Amino acid sequence: MDLSMGTPVDPVPPVVREALAAASDSPGYPLTAGTSALRTAITEWVVRTCVASPGQPADGLGVLPTIGSKELVAWLPTLLGIGPGDTVVIPTVCYPTYEVGVRLAGATPVRTDSLTSLGPARPKLVWVNSPSNPTGQVLPAGHLRKVVDWARERGAVVASDECYLTLGWEEQPVSVLSPEVNGGRLDGVLAVHSLSKRSNLAGYRAGFVAGDPAIVSELLAVRKHGGMIVPAPVQAAMVAALGDDEHAAAQRATYSARRDVLRASLVKAGFEIEQSGAGLYLWATRGEDSWSTVDWFAERGILVAPGAFYGPAGERHVRVALTATDERVAAAAERLEI
Ligand SMILES: Cc1ncc(COP(=O)(O)O)c(C=O)c1O
Repeated sequence: MDLSMGTPVDPVPPVVREALAAASDSPGYPLTAGTSALRTAITEWVVRTCVASPGQPADGLGVLPTIGSKELVAWLPTLLGIGPGDTVVIPTVCYPTYEVGVRLAGATPVRTDSLTSLGPARPKLVWVNSPSNPTGQVLPAGHLRKVVDWARERGAVVASDECYLTLGWEEQPVSVLSPEVNGGRLDGVLAVHSLSKRSNLAGYRAGFVAGDPAIVSELLAVRKHGGMIVPAPVQAAMVAALGDDEHAAAQRATYSARRDVLRASLVKAGFEIEQSGAGLYLWATRGEDSWSTVDWFAERGILVAPGAFYGPAGERHVRVALTATDERVAAAAERLEI
């Protein structure tokens, strides 16, 4: 029972597959900026989902499709011209690609969740990830607001990885694009989104970045010349996926049910579930080294990810993914309860 990776296992929604197939005759080069249909679909989705007061126009919002969001995470520091001598803030416990991206640019990562600990330092970029992979932690609007204010004072860009935004359980995540967080201004903020989890499109590679129009147009200029272009059939599939909230709601309900089963069994087996208020993972601990816990699960035929993968502060937790079929989740629950 592989609960170690956050890779979708449920089918791609038919409405999305049909759009992909219908666009398969695409001999010409696609637009790096995305078709106008795609830019509209992204903007409408962002206004619906990320902006706190629905109906508020997304005046001046910059949007740009990406080839999944991982490549953007890995290349954003480079694309922004960040390099040796620069620092980039990443969360204490986080998705490994933030650090990879900083190192690819030759810059220095600083792991912290408290910007005040940085003193007078002037990082070029601050990554936040709410809901978090791996912990499921949700950053409240007030916290995000402080991060944005702090970064604006220092001329740093805030990149908010929001790929689990629509998977709030006990807590409701807030986007950096919400006026509650950015004060109704987009300068210095970028939100990074993915269709991998919402629409089971990890295999298509479909994501986007939205926010400060000046930064987005710089990214577009560099990405255009760098050949970082979303294939035309995938662009068409993204339009269909973003325009349909029904499949996303059904997928969310599926994850919610799997989460309930796994959570109850983990608690019965003596684990404490910490944070985990949203997202696709349960962050579990028995107060021991994460590799010993991984072994304990392996003896029961279950794979989980050691918290140490996500930074030294994660070394007493394991990450349990909700991305296994109902049958595999039930089997894992049974093994946990023996
Ligand atoms: C926090 C976070 N960001 C980005 C990604 C990349 O997702 P994708 O490249 O499929 O859009 C993942 C994938 O698991 C993730 O957990």
